[in-house]
Amino acid sequence: MPRWMMSLHDVQLAVGVVIVNIEMLALTSARGKLGSAVLRAILENNLIDSSELVVCTSSDPKHPRFDALREKSITVRYNNFDDPASLEQAFTGCDRLFLVSSPRISMDFNDAPLWKGREAHHRAAIDAARKVGVKHIYYTSLGFANPSKAAVMRAHIRTEAYLRELKDLNWTIIREGLYNESWPLYFGYYYGLKEETRKEVIVAGDGPISWTAIADMAFGTAKVLSSPPSEWAGKTFYLSQNKTWTLHDIAQIVSRVRGDEVQLEIVTQDEYERYYAEEKGRERAEVEWWSTTYNAVLQGECNIVDTTLENMLREAGRRPKPLEETIKDMLQ
Ligand SMILES: *[C@@H]1O[C@H](CO)[C@@H](O)[C@H](O)[C@H]1NC(C)=O
Ligand SMILES: *[C@@H]1O[C@H](CO)[C@@H](O)[C@H](O)[C@H]1NC(C)=O
Ligand SMILES: *[C@@H]1O[C@H](CO)[C@@H](O)[C@H](O)[C@H]1NC(C)=O
Repeated sequence: MPRWMMSLHDVQLAVGVVIVNIEMLALTSARGKLGSAVLRAILENNLIDSSELVVCTSSDPKHPRFDALREKSITVRYNNFDDPASLEQAFTGCDRLFLVSSPRISMDFNDAPLWKGREAHHRAAIDAARKVGVKHIYYTSLGFANPSKAAVMRAHIRTEAYLRELKDLNWTIIREGLYNESWPLYFGYYYGLKEETRKEVIVAGDGPISWTAIADMAFGTAKVLSSPPSEWAGKTFYLSQNKTWTLHDIAQIVSRVRGDEVQLEIVTQDEYERYYAEEKGRERAEVEWWSTTYNAVLQGECNIVDTTLENMLREAGRRPKPLEETIKDMLQ
């Protein structure tokens, strides 16, 4: 479809008398945890004019759940990482793309070779964007090191490398910190919150982790997206809270909140895999993929020293929310 047919917004521009230099920004995964939080941060803080946003979804864009966005003059389009044509259509007419990493973690299992893991989804989106003339891609990587011991980081590392090779567009790599709300994933895969009865939580290693509230990270990401593109072009950085908590700290907070002692038990990677696959009945390929995370944590990969987010929050008069509060909210 040619650009001028794509949206009412574009038609209005075409017939308008005043020529407005509008830069369209496409956002993927706008219903996912991070994507929706970033969209909310943009709108709540009026960081980007909503008529410049193209929200891309893998569900039906005509669904009434998107009516509220359309009422704000946001364009809603279909996209699907498995369907390159849909990606091209979704990004057509856009100058910039905010690419949230694919949630389909099963692609990474069993040591997925290059272009078989989630990086295949990311490359499809990047190539579609290049084809339709997108000038700048913001990619959400993850708050581990590069290189990393963690299999969860592999698709991100491959995608980062692919972006850095590109000459036809600019990129910004945002290594998003580990979500505050994901602590049950690291703490006992998964710690069952209110229903949990385990007194001992088995992990394959411990170390400092810079847990960060999604809302804070989304605010920082929205600030990056609303800045002049040249400010962040070619940059790789973390958006993460400065303070760290270990899994031992989490065991103590959980014990305090529950009023009942919960202990952390550290075992070898093999024992961890056996326990979660055989005793907890989780898929072995997934457990093997996840168990490597503890090696990375142990090496200090998740102890992030980057003040980008703290500075942004301070400037905006916001205070990063401490993990204690999050754990309390989730357990009560
Ligand atoms: C994550 O932290 C933020 C800020 O403290 C909080 O608003 C949010 O509810 C937390 N998420 C969960 C699932 O507790
Ligand atoms: C990339 O960014 C630089 C610096 O802001 C700019 O001069 C250049 O035109 C941009 N490249 C593209 C393809 O937009
Ligand atoms: C971040 O943490 C380090 C080490 O704990 C500390 O030296 C530094 O002042 C902190 N920076 C900010 C902005 O809080």
